[in-house]
Amino acid sequence: MYTAVFRAMLPCYHEKITIFSSILNLKISLKENNMPFRPRYTGLIERYRDRLPVSEDTKLISLGEGNTPLLKLENIPAVLGKDVEIYVKYEGLNPTGSFKDRGMTMAVTKAVEEGSKAIICASTGNTSAAAAAYAARAGIAAFVLIPDGKIALGKLAQGMMHGATVIQIKGNFDEGMQLVKDVAEHAPVTIVNSINPYRLQGQKTAAFEIVEELSRAPDFHCLPVGNAGNITAHWMGYSEYFADGIITERPKMVGYQADGSAPFMRGHMVDEPETVATAIRIGHPQSWDKALKVREESQGWFDECTDEHILATQKLLAEHEGIFCEPASATSLAGAINDINSGKIPEGSMIVCTLTGHGLKDPDTAIKQSTSPLVTVDATLDAVREAILNNMAD
Ligand code: F0G
Repeated sequence: MYTAVFRAMLPCYHEKITIFSSILNLKISLKENNMPFRPRYTGLIERYRDRLPVSEDTKLISLGEGNTPLLKLENIPAVLGKDVEIYVKYEGLNPTGSFKDRGMTMAVTKAVEEGSKAIICASTGNTSAAAAAYAARAGIAAFVLIPDGKIALGKLAQGMMHGATVIQIKGNFDEGMQLVKDVAEHAPVTIVNSINPYRLQGQKTAAFEIVEELSRAPDFHCLPVGNAGNITAHWMGYSEYFADGIITERPKMVGYQADGSAPFMRGHMVDEPETVATAIRIGHPQSWDKALKVREESQGWFDECTDEHILATQKLLAEHEGIFCEPASATSLAGAINDINSGKIPEGSMIVCTLTGHGLKDPDTAIKQSTSPLVTVDATLDAVREAILNNMAD
């Protein structure tokens, strides 16, 4: 009846009202029938449309990124013997296995909107995987520069599989980044490294998700730092929710680097960065100034971890929590553990550590450091039974 009245009053809204009333009817009938249907999750731009630089007409290039689990660590605080609440934001569960998808959906969406037919990036592996995948989704070309022999196998496979032109340079990430900037001046390609401002816009949404699930900001947010784009983006996200009164406190932002690639600790750029955590093997961070500002505004800090500690933490997470992240990602928890043990992060704190990439990205490093027995036996009941008995925990 109401629909009929409105129709008479506002003929121009006829169509909208008809659609609205049929959605309403559908919802009511679903409820009545107790059906399990829910809206399809269609990615973070759609989810945060009003907080991102897109319009109604923008064609979204998405693979359903974002909405990743925020897992509470159940066992590691007890291993540490500390009363702390630690959550990990498992960004390895994004479509290409790393947090880069958050920024790439935005960067590629805007590149396509602006008419670009090709994107380019330098990468330690994850950015190239994401760029390749989103370019494939958009039907445009991707060129990726990677350091020869210094990227994890899974990341290389992704770039190649998605049809990017993979250019291995006989140099490191920092040299690749400079080449990308130089070449983009002369070629019709859009840079999709985190110097592209749309990347940080997409990445800030991880902070939104954390706040929404905790109903507050954590006391400390710990991240691995390479170019320092992600720590900057998270701070943007927290600051946006803070400015809108959604949270009353922002976290202290804490960035950890591998000690062989720690320009923020040295106070200057590092020319020959080295670390087993190849994703953060970066000596010339692109967001240097922004990251220093984040440290100052949030009253956080930078610190460094040894490769041994990074790998041990990767294993700790895998063995005690069932969470498999790549080495670089474990740097956030490795650093947090140091600071929890020293008391710099006090007991009673709520901490979020970002796990930036999935462990399957780098199977070589995982297998190399694994101590789990790999037992080969005959395909007989006796042999399998013996293998089980020999390896049963006491
Ligand atoms: N963790 C992982 C797994 C990464 O791949 C990266 C960066 C970082 C942390 C550091 O993030 O640079 O925003 O401080 N990877 C880039 C790449 C450099 O090319 O994939 P950042």
